[in-house]
Amino acid sequence: MCGIVGYIGNKEAFPILIKGLKRLEYRGYDSAGIALLNGDLNVFKKAGKVSELEKITNGKSVGANIGIGHTRWATHGEPNDVNAHPHLSQSNELAIIHNGIIENYAAIKAELEKRGYNFQSDTDTEVLINLIEEVRKTEKSSLEDAVRVALNEVVGAYAIVILDKKDPNHLIAARKGSPLVIGIGEDEFYIASDASPIIEYTQNVIYLDDQEYASVHRDGTYVIKTLGNVEKSHAIQKLELSLEAIEKGGYEHFMLKEIHEQPKALEDAMRGRMNALQGWIKLGGLSEYLSRIENAERFVITACGTSWHSGLIGEYLIEDLARVPVEVEYASEFRYRNPIIKESDVVFAISQSGETADTLAAIELAKERQALIYGICNVIGSSIARVSHAGSYTHAGPEIGVASTKAFSTQITLLTLIALQIAQSKGTISTSRLRTILYEMENIPKKIKETLELDSQIKELAAIYKDARNFLYLGRGYNFPVALEGALKLKEISYIHAEGYPAAEMKHGPIALIDEEMPVVFLATNQSAYEKIVSNVQEVKARKGKIIAVVNKGDTQIRALADHVIEVPETEEVLSPLVTIVPLQLLAYHIAIMRGCNVDQPRNLAKSVTVE
Ligand code: F6R
Repeated sequence: MCGIVGYIGNKEAFPILIKGLKRLEYRGYDSAGIALLNGDLNVFKKAGKVSELEKITNGKSVGANIGIGHTRWATHGEPNDVNAHPHLSQSNELAIIHNGIIENYAAIKAELEKRGYNFQSDTDTEVLINLIEEVRKTEKSSLEDAVRVALNEVVGAYAIVILDKKDPNHLIAARKGSPLVIGIGEDEFYIASDASPIIEYTQNVIYLDDQEYASVHRDGTYVIKTLGNVEKSHAIQKLELSLEAIEKGGYEHFMLKEIHEQPKALEDAMRGRMNALQGWIKLGGLSEYLSRIENAERFVITACGTSWHSGLIGEYLIEDLARVPVEVEYASEFRYRNPIIKESDVVFAISQSGETADTLAAIELAKERQALIYGICNVIGSSIARVSHAGSYTHAGPEIGVASTKAFSTQITLLTLIALQIAQSKGTISTSRLRTILYEMENIPKKIKETLELDSQIKELAAIYKDARNFLYLGRGYNFPVALEGALKLKEISYIHAEGYPAAEMKHGPIALIDEEMPVVFLATNQSAYEKIVSNVQEVKARKGKIIAVVNKGDTQIRALADHVIEVPETEEVLSPLVTIVPLQLLAYHIAIMRGCNVDQPRNLAKSVTVE
C-alpha cells in the first residue's frame, strides 16, 4: 500500500524518483507526487497514475539533487490531487511521504487545530508532518529530535521520508510496520519501499527495522537510531535482485510474464531442497525445528487472499501426507477472535509480500502465546520473514502484477515439500509413495509448460465468455481451493462476479444461479472423486449451464458432457493444483484484457496490503 522513494546525492533526483515510482506503482496507483528541493521546495502531485504526474511536470523546472516521491493507495481521504503525497507542513518548510496509517490521527489533528493549524487534505499524513513541525517549534529541537518525539506519540504503521526546505543536505526516514530499504551509493542515498527503485544504482542496502529511523546526509554519512534514541549499526547487505527480474521481458503485462515464469519459479523453489533419486527433502528452516514441528499437536496456517488459498491446499497436503491436524485461518479473523493457541502449536504464516498487516498481527498474537512461527514468504528480508522463528522463501522472484500467480504456485510447492518432509520424518508415508511424488514434482515444471501451450485455445474461450456477468468455479478435494483461486483471479482483474465452491456444495444453494447464461468452470482432474464430479457436471448440464471443464488429457466422459474442455497433462492428485490453476490464470488474464481492464493494476487494489 503506497510506494515511497527518496534520493539525495549528486545526480538529478527527478528521473530517479519517477522511475522508482513506476517500479513501485504496484503498491498503489490512485495518485502520485514528488517534492524537489532546489532552493525552492517544489511539489507536484496528481490523481491517477505516475504517468499523469509526469505529464504535469512537462516543461516545469524539476532540477534538484534531493527529492521524495510517492504513489498512493488511498486510506484516509479520496484519491485526488490534494490528498496525494507529498504533504507539506503548515509553514511549507517540511515535506513528507508516508506509507501506512496513523490510527490516532484524529485526536492529534484536533489538538493541532486548537493550536492554529489548518489542514488542506483529509489525510493522516498531513497531521503527522504538522505534529513534527509543532514539536520542532515548541521544543526548539532539531528535526531529527522532533521526528523521534512525534513518532513516539503516534499509534499505527508508517514508513516515512521527510525533507526539510532549510536543510538541503539531509533526509530522514523512519519505519514501523511498513517496509523501508536504504540504498547506499557513493555519497548518495536511495530510500524506497522495496529494492526495485534502487537496484540499478547500487547493490548495497540496509533494511531498517521497526521503530528505527535513519538520517542520511549528502556527504555520504548516515546514522540509524531507535525511537528510543539508541544508535544502531546495521550490516550492509548485497541485493541479489536482478534488473531483468523486475522488468516485463518482452511480455505485454507483468501478470502474463509471471504466469509464464511458473515452470522456472517452481524449479527455483525446489532447487537444493529435494532429490527424487535419493529420496530426500530438506528445507533448511524446517530441519532446524523438525522435532518441535513433528511433535506439534496441530498446525495453524494463517494468511490472506491467494495465500490463504494456498494455505487450504496446505491443509489437504499436510493432513493427507503427514497426518497432523491443520486449521486454516484468515489472518484478519484469527487475530481478533481470541483463538486458542498453545505452546505446542506451530503456526505457518504464508505471504508473498511478507508485509501483509493482518498476517503480521496474527503472527504477533501467536508468538505472544508461545507458538512456533514458520514463515513462508517470497520477498527476501520482508517483515514476516524477519519476525518468524523459522521459515522458507518461495524463491518465485519479484511478483509485480497485483494478481498473484507464481507466488501461489511456489507457495503450494513449498507446502508440498513441508508436508513430505514431516511425513518422511514421522513415517506416515512409504518410501515408494514419497519417491513417486518427488519424481512427479520434478516433472511438474514440464507439465506447466505444456499447459501454457493451451494459451490460444484459452484465448478463444475468453472471447466467448468475456461478457458473462457471473462465473461459477467448482472443484473437489485438492481442486476445491483451486476453484476459489480461479474465481478470485477472474473477479479481481476482470471485475466479473465469480464464486468458487466445493462442487458438492453447489446443490445446497448456488445451483439456483444456474441457467443458460452461467459459465461453470469445473476442475475435473481428480482421480479419486472423478465419478462424483461427473455427477456434478450432469447436474449443471441438466440446468443448461455452460460447462468449461479442466480435465486430464484423453478424458472422454466429461468431454461428452461439457461445452468446452481444457485438457491438461495428468499428474499425481496431490500435485494437481500446480497444473490446474494455470488455465484459470490464463482465462482470467485474457478475459480481463478483452474487457479493457488493467490486469497489472486492477482498480482499488494494491500489491502489498500493509493496512488492516
Ligand atoms: C490476489 C492477491 C491477494 C494476496 C493477499 C495477501 O491475487 O494477490 O489476495 O494474496 O493480499 O498478500 P500476501 O500474500 O502478500 O500476504
